[in-house]
Amino acid sequence: MTFSSLPDKSAAARLAGLLDSAMDGIISVDDEQRIVLFNRAAQKMFGWTTQEVHGQPLDMLIPQRYRGGHSQQVRRFGATGTTSRRMGDNTVLYALRKDGGEFPIDASISQLNAPEGKLYTVILRDVTERVRARQELASFAAESTGVREQEKSRIARELHDELAQSLTALKMDTIWLRDNSAGDPQAQTKLAQMLALLDGAVASVRRIAADLRPLVLDDLGLVAAIEWVVQNFTQRTGVPCDLDIDESLELDEPFATGVFRMVQESLANVGKHASARSVQVSVHRRGDNVVLCVQDDGVGFRTGEPRKPQSLGLVGLRERALLMRGEVSVQSSPGAGTRVEARIPIEGTAE
Ligand SMILES: Nc1ncnc2c1ncn2[C@@H]1O[C@H](COP(=O)(O)OP(=O)(O)OP(=O)(O)O)[C@@H](O)[C@H]1O
Ligand SMILES: [Mg+2]
Repeated sequence: MTFSSLPDKSAAARLAGLLDSAMDGIISVDDEQRIVLFNRAAQKMFGWTTQEVHGQPLDMLIPQRYRGGHSQQVRRFGATGTTSRRMGDNTVLYALRKDGGEFPIDASISQLNAPEGKLYTVILRDVTERVRARQELASFAAESTGVREQEKSRIARELHDELAQSLTALKMDTIWLRDNSAGDPQAQTKLAQMLALLDGAVASVRRIAADLRPLVLDDLGLVAAIEWVVQNFTQRTGVPCDLDIDESLELDEPFATGVFRMVQESLANVGKHASARSVQVSVHRRGDNVVLCVQDDGVGFRTGEPRKPQSLGLVGLRERALLMRGEVSVQSSPGAGTRVEARIPIEGTAE
């Protein structure tokens, strides 16, 4: 049996029962945005009874700061004539409870031309739990990135200060031994081999420490660290790299490490994949953002193609930017070089 074939009262009761059994809040408003329907889930969510809200303006369910914008949106929606739409697709919307508390919601809106005029129906869900879980995950990710950096920094420092120093001392002693045991040619050969090995070991320890985390980043700051990584890139690859950076740029953590790692990974990619003839790196503060760009004139690649599952560089770049609430764009095409650009908001950090 359909609703239309039921006597009016019974159809209405059935419809009300159906709406009340829904898990989502369902609210209808008329053309003047006055509440005409408020199901049980909505009553639970907002703390108002149907009697209390009936005929009242929808604004009573919306935090003050969103009211103007919201009614404009609904009017625009009414004018466009589309029948349904998800509200605030990328941003979380907030609703206002009777006790003045706010909670995040997911909502969609639809419109119906009823004989009495336009009827807008909002279906909404309390997403407090989801938002909290997302925030927890983001702060966990930020925390674990920070801990990883601290750990790298500690190991780098110990390698540099302890192991490299001990090896250097050992080298000094070996030189002394060589110079003071001139009589035995076999011992001289052995000592020369030992010295060569020690030189190699000192160089390796310093390189491993610097790759883990350049101590200049902690000791001299971001600008010196980026200068170092750029010089190091040119030394390793032979590709000239032009650096344009605000000499006075100072960033707090986690921004300094984040920006440094993004430049480092972008340059590593240029070295590994680009066969470039030249590279440009720029890092500038623009208002409340730091903007970095690494551009090469190399072979480029198709950005839309699925990446190899083991490639973590560009993914890591995006993850870092996301953790700092920033964004990254990678522009590239075969033969046209690659440009990696990131914008990170650093509001409230050191000038
Ligand atoms: N500057 C560039 N020039 C040309 N191709 C690039 C450049 N940067 C990235 N690519 C391409 O994009 C792919 C993905 O890069 P990504 O940094 O994610 O991974 P990877 O460098 O291959 O490995 P990983 O960084 O994990 O060691 C690369 O394999 C390469 O094909
Ligand atoms: Mg890479």
